[in-house]
Amino acid sequence: MKNIVILISGDGSNMAAIVQTAHSQNWTKRLNAKVNAVISNKPDAKGLAIAKDHGIATAVVDHKAFANQANPREAFDAALMVEIDKHQPHLVVLAGFMRILTPAFVAHYEGRMINIHPSLLPAFAGLNTHQRALEAGCQFAGATVHRVTADLDHGPILAQAVVPVLPDDTAETLAARVLTQEHLIYPNAIAQLLT
Ligand code: GRF
Repeated sequence: MKNIVILISGDGSNMAAIVQTAHSQNWTKRLNAKVNAVISNKPDAKGLAIAKDHGIATAVVDHKAFANQANPREAFDAALMVEIDKHQPHLVVLAGFMRILTPAFVAHYEGRMINIHPSLLPAFAGLNTHQRALEAGCQFAGATVHRVTADLDHGPILAQAVVPVLPDDTAETLAARVLTQEHLIYPNAIAQLLT
């Protein structure tokens, strides 16, 4: 069985879309793959309850608990790796996981970790993508599924979706339009990788 571990920090709507697609497309039987666990760095992430409702194992590795360590980021990533590796993942899926990863973490999952970013990469890597796209006068925006490499938001592209920017858009309305596409391309990109 190819185990999938999904990392979240918030609403988990991409995670939910992946779980629903895994169910509706019967990934267990068709792809020999299963969403094994959902792990959050935030104890109050809404997505944890959604995962539990689907009978998926959940865990929290709270990054704040490592604040007093000599190397908080490294210590957090090491603890997260232990939690992830309990599931022997074939694929680690970052779905709204709002952490900058250490080189050791990225190296450990090289070739088996992917992310979704709400812009047409390589444009607008980093935060506040929608606001920046509006300020730049973009007529189109979108989302990108990519492999995670040491270069933040710049790994090889696996899938993209494009949406129009409308005249009255705010960062919120544009984000919502992009998110509907994220929910389509992320599960599909994962299914392709597992095929
Ligand atoms: C998505 O837009 C994702 O691309 C970005 O953060 C948002 C997370 O949404 N990194 P959700 O937690 O999957 O609902």
